[in-house]
Amino acid sequence: MLSVMTDTVSDIPREMHEAFRQLFGAHARVFRAPGRVNLIGEHTDYNDGFVMPAAIDRSVWAAVSPRSDKHLVVRSTNFTDSVEIDLDKEDSRAARHWSDYVHGVAVMLRQAGHCLRGANLLIRGDVPIGAGLSSSAAVEVATALALMGNSGVSVDRVELAKLCRRAENEFVGARVGIMDQFISCMAQAGHALCLDCRSLQHRALPVPRDVSLVICNTMVTHELAGNEYNTRRAECEEGVRLLSRSLPGIRALRDVTPEQLQRHASELPTTILKRCRHVVLENARVCDAAAALDRGDLAAFGRLMRESHQSLRADYEVSCAELDLMVALTEKQEGVYGARMTGGGFGGCTVSLVRSDATAEFQRAVSAAYSAKTGLEPQIWVSSAAAGAGEVE
Ligand code: GLA
Repeated sequence: MLSVMTDTVSDIPREMHEAFRQLFGAHARVFRAPGRVNLIGEHTDYNDGFVMPAAIDRSVWAAVSPRSDKHLVVRSTNFTDSVEIDLDKEDSRAARHWSDYVHGVAVMLRQAGHCLRGANLLIRGDVPIGAGLSSSAAVEVATALALMGNSGVSVDRVELAKLCRRAENEFVGARVGIMDQFISCMAQAGHALCLDCRSLQHRALPVPRDVSLVICNTMVTHELAGNEYNTRRAECEEGVRLLSRSLPGIRALRDVTPEQLQRHASELPTTILKRCRHVVLENARVCDAAAALDRGDLAAFGRLMRESHQSLRADYEVSCAELDLMVALTEKQEGVYGARMTGGGFGGCTVSLVRSDATAEFQRAVSAAYSAKTGLEPQIWVSSAAAGAGEVE
């Protein structure tokens, strides 16, 4: 969704009620789903590994009211067009349009056996699009809650995350992992979530009170990242195939230890080895980072973030010049524990862990230095670790 920097979160539901009444002449129920940052554990979710995301205070809202027919009429305040979807149409397909996320969720809810009423829907978001903060997962989760609320359907939160991921995998055609939908559904305010993407066991880790999550948007969007993302997935799968000749028990890179990878490194082509090395060591870093947070060792946590970024840059090759520059600039600042790119990569945002009393100077100095070097005006904001999705009163 388009970024609307001037909005305050509390104004948006009220504005949505008003806009909805004007568009559809009805009273709406409003649902919100947050975007996310990932503190550590990048490109590990689709390798059955570990991740540590937190929800942010940027969200997507979906306002809904029932219709008497079996259609969804979908509008967004971020776009001008209106879309009509026939819920009874059997062979519905993605149209490479923003409404695909809405449509895909409706299709998956129906496929899961839920009976949906027709609905008028208005979508609005302030999660920047293409910035690696999961605006698409937020659209999916907000839409799913709105359609469920409108139809008297309830779905367990973990099942809901899986269903929204299926919408993206099977309907939209992006082979993403479970992280983004999971955190949007399951986040707890003030906490990051350490998630095992195989078992879906998870643990909420409190973010220390005197520490802030600072998000720096490079303003380079990751539109071209889709192909590269699917290529990385395929390279990981190839790594598993090759390694399983010597390690027959493995199902995913999650099952390979750093020692095993080192022992069998010569069995892999250089690029595949680099991809595997990132994933195997990144999984270990997430576990170490969770332990560091448990004992309040932010210096260790920051070191792991730094290593993660270097690994994403050199081994996984999903960073870019602007992300590297942003990380380098942020690390020079006073009060910074660590920084790294967050999300799929090829542009988008970095996340920094910053002592709360140092954030104002951080914003000023990083913004000025980044503009001077690139000519781009970055968006930099301090986010709380926000709560997961739900209905807005
Ligand atoms: C995107 C995907 C996630 C995850 C990250 C990389 O955000 O949606 O599933 O794979 O990239 O960690």
